[in-house]
Amino acid sequence: MQNPLFIPVSVLLAFTFACTPQSKQHEPKGVTSGRAMVVTAHPLASAAGVSVLGKGGNAVDAAVTVELCLAVCYPNAGNIAGGGFMVIRMHDGTAVSLDYREKAPMRASRDMYLDSLGNVIQGSSLHGHRACGVPGTVAGLFEAHRRYGMLPWDELVAPAVRMASEGFPLTEIQAADLNRAGSRLLRINGRKTALTGKGLWHAGDTLVQPELALTLERIRDMGRDGFYRGETARLIMEEMERGKGLISNADLDAYEPVWRTPVTGMYRGYRIISMPPPSSGGVGLLQMLAMVEPFDLGKMGWNRPDAVHVMVESARRMYADRAAYLGDPEFVEIPVEGLLNRDYLKDRMAGFNMRQAGNSSQFGEGDPSAWESEETTHYSIVDPMGNALAGTTTLNGSYGSGVIVKGGGFLLNNQMDDFSIKPGFPNLYGLVGGEANAIAPGKRMLSSMTPTVVEKEGKLFMVLGSPGGSTIITSVFQVLINVIDHHMSMQQAVEAGRFHHQWLPDTLYCENRALDRTCLRTLTKKGHHVRRRGAIGRVDAVLVWPGGILEGGADPRGDDTAMGLEPR
Ligand code: DON
Repeated sequence: MQNPLFIPVSVLLAFTFACTPQSKQHEPKGVTSGRAMVVTAHPLASAAGVSVLGKGGNAVDAAVTVELCLAVCYPNAGNIAGGGFMVIRMHDGTAVSLDYREKAPMRASRDMYLDSLGNVIQGSSLHGHRACGVPGTVAGLFEAHRRYGMLPWDELVAPAVRMASEGFPLTEIQAADLNRAGSRLLRINGRKTALTGKGLWHAGDTLVQPELALTLERIRDMGRDGFYRGETARLIMEEMERGKGLISNADLDAYEPVWRTPVTGMYRGYRIISMPPPSSGGVGLLQMLAMVEPFDLGKMGWNRPDAVHVMVESARRMYADRAAYLGDPEFVEIPVEGLLNRDYLKDRMAGFNMRQAGNSSQFGEGDPSAWESEETTHYSIVDPMGNALAGTTTLNGSYGSGVIVKGGGFLLNNQMDDFSIKPGFPNLYGLVGGEANAIAPGKRMLSSMTPTVVEKEGKLFMVLGSPGGSTIITSVFQVLINVIDHHMSMQQAVEAGRFHHQWLPDTLYCENRALDRTCLRTLTKKGHHVRRRGAIGRVDAVLVWPGGILEGGADPRGDDTAMGLEPR
């Protein structure tokens, strides 16, 4: 399951310090501000977001700028031709979520990645033009701004245009990452592009993206139509013809983001507000939290064997349900109420044995009907008015499909791989699925993205989310527990070492040094199949301390940066 596409070696080396257990803290350890906070995967995107807030913009305005800047300065995941989700909690407590997930093109079909014998054509859902879903990002940002934005659209897009045309200095992690991706991008595109133009990249080199700057100018001037119609649409169509892709003008024209009611639930008195299907993130997170709530994780101790065991067993059960029941709610009936029912989840844990690991091969999904009445990037923003926004956006794999639209300068996603391309066949993240997540024209592929906002006593408490494919849900789960059960500060909670289990494969993955030797031995004795792996997730988060002080938690596994708004 370890996936070289999203765990650069440099990242592994960079964060060996991060995995040691943290002592309880009762004060912020990260960047703080009494006014507003932006935490993103890149310092330039964080700075651009803070600047919008300083000019009187709100969290949605800042999100538009942050996400478009990430498309320029974080091209492995930031995007204009991918998709994402936002969970927004306004200062008056109203909570909404926006789904701008990609859709299968109308010409897609259930078995499009299988050969005539019904076998999966290796890599076909991951590389090149046929791997691309209909992009949702620009439509999503435009819609969020239409409903909540305060500053003019063109002002919000301008910083990304500038960054693309003037260039920006690559970080060490980025230079190494681009060098690794170079041959794949050259092979898929058959020509040099801004991302591959120069041979080997070094830290500090300036990456200039003139074609992307022109595309962003069209988006700045024409809004959504600057992407889905006119010149940009024409360039996408030419690209589709070149690589026999399936996206048509009609697909682009018909793409619509959807406002959805977030899924919500309580955990130890905190109200969790998260992303509903077609993401499995919110449902999965709430399921696991409810399954572990009867156990005193705080008393068991951070990353001690019993605490890890309980959390892993909740994950095993959740991922089995995910594979069976979750998909696009417009296409499949999802028993969300049953899946989140406390009695159902109690029943799911009925066979739990503190001394013995479950066995995934003898363990399937539950029957919630009886109770019925995921390279990505995440950013967290709290504005001076107290509005909060958790946004996660993705091309899926690092640099998506690898296809860079000629003349447009932007990467297309490979989100089609998030469908279950054949029942039981693992996707990029090792996830398996079935009918609920089978390909159908116009359907959204199931996601694990988990943008989440947490309330305490009716007030904003935390904003968080992560990239990491299937490990997103368990990463968010652990960071929440680190703060709520283990009383860590936000920065400590995101730094702390993490582990992951997803039912199948029946393996307990842990970051180097996340679990000490005794813990590993005890877990192995209980029957867990433990394997070390590189970084799990990359959580960017904000915590509200008593008195309203905001603490940013920026994940040291990447270049992630928290920036607060300076006092007036
Ligand atoms: O939507 C999903 O769940 C995946 N496409 C997310 C991919 C991802 O997080 C890659 N990042 N490291």
